[in-house]
Amino acid sequence: MTDSILLKTLRGEATERPPFWFMRQAGRVLPSYMALKEKYSFWQMMKDPKLGAEVTLLPINDLGVDAAILFSDILVIPYAMGMGLEFSDSGPEFEKPLSHFDDPVAQLKPDPSKLQYIYDVIDEIMATKPAHIPLIGFCGAPLTVLCYMLQGIGRQIEFPEAIRFIYRNKKATKQLIDAIVELSIIYAQKQHEHGIQVFQLFETHAGLIPNELYNELFMPAVEKIGKAVRALGIPFIYFPKGMGVGLDKITPEICDFVSIDWQVPIEVARKLVDPGVGLQGNLDPRILLSSQDVIEKQLERYIEFGQKNQNWIFNLGHGFLPTIPYENARFMADWVRNADWKR
Ligand code: CP3
Repeated sequence: MTDSILLKTLRGEATERPPFWFMRQAGRVLPSYMALKEKYSFWQMMKDPKLGAEVTLLPINDLGVDAAILFSDILVIPYAMGMGLEFSDSGPEFEKPLSHFDDPVAQLKPDPSKLQYIYDVIDEIMATKPAHIPLIGFCGAPLTVLCYMLQGIGRQIEFPEAIRFIYRNKKATKQLIDAIVELSIIYAQKQHEHGIQVFQLFETHAGLIPNELYNELFMPAVEKIGKAVRALGIPFIYFPKGMGVGLDKITPEICDFVSIDWQVPIEVARKLVDPGVGLQGNLDPRILLSSQDVIEKQLERYIEFGQKNQNWIFNLGHGFLPTIPYENARFMADWVRNADWKR
């Protein structure tokens, strides 16, 4: 079996180039995915093992990435807690957002068996993927998941009702966080039992509240999930989008690698984050809307960083956008694979 360049980097070994994969690499820019989307709904693609595995593995051929990430969504956890979930053209929507209830904690009915279909997808991926391409599992981090649960509507990214609830109901917020953590840990353990080799925690909305409040209410929950994942012997990557200078609190106790968004230059992030934690990131995906010579200039800026830093995974600062041309995504992937990284 050829060893995986991603796993090598995560283990702290030297490689001739940085490994790369991209957030939202399956579900947004690939023509092969768009063709499947014409025929099947998102739920169908997530729930059918053959389809789910096929979509998960598309970016290996179409982009040449060094890892696959499970084709699923962070909102499957609220779904498994009994919240009705639809994905429409305007984004994900819950039947009854928790902020509509006087006692939201009482509404939760966690049922781990409602995640079983995902493990069937993982089994199919493990049976069909190339040996040198590891599978990344994931779930959403507590603040991001809680925001969707309370607010209910996917594209209202300010989450006003959710934030109002958090500021007014600290005790209930903590209880909701505990419930999310408990099911997320079972979910991560099961993903591992079925074969995932790396785990990423998506805290897309870390920037919604001050770092101080985040560290008080949410960071202990992140640490709990991270501890449970690392006890399984697999690397734990944490993506706290919008955390900014709060990155200076990211230590090896919290995660193995931290994924950096496009707001903080990667060299600055390197200075903020504890040297014992590796970095992932952080090209602004919107650069990929420009021409290829502009894209190339932005990519060239990473050579010096990549030369000096072996504990780095190339990725985007946030997921691909549906408006990005596939040719530009492919151009970036080929460039990263073929550049002279001077290592
Ligand atoms: O490459 C992949 O797409 C991998 C699978 C994946 C999806 N969602 C599929 C998806 C992953 C890793 C996610 C994570 C996710 N989901 C996050 C964290 C990362 C990020 O992008 O910030 C968040 C915040 C969500 C919640 C979510 N799910 C939103 C806001 C939306 C609507 C907008 C959109 O199109 O992404 C979804 C739906 C969703 N998740 C789709 C896909 C392929 C689109 C479904 C459709 O086509 O109807």
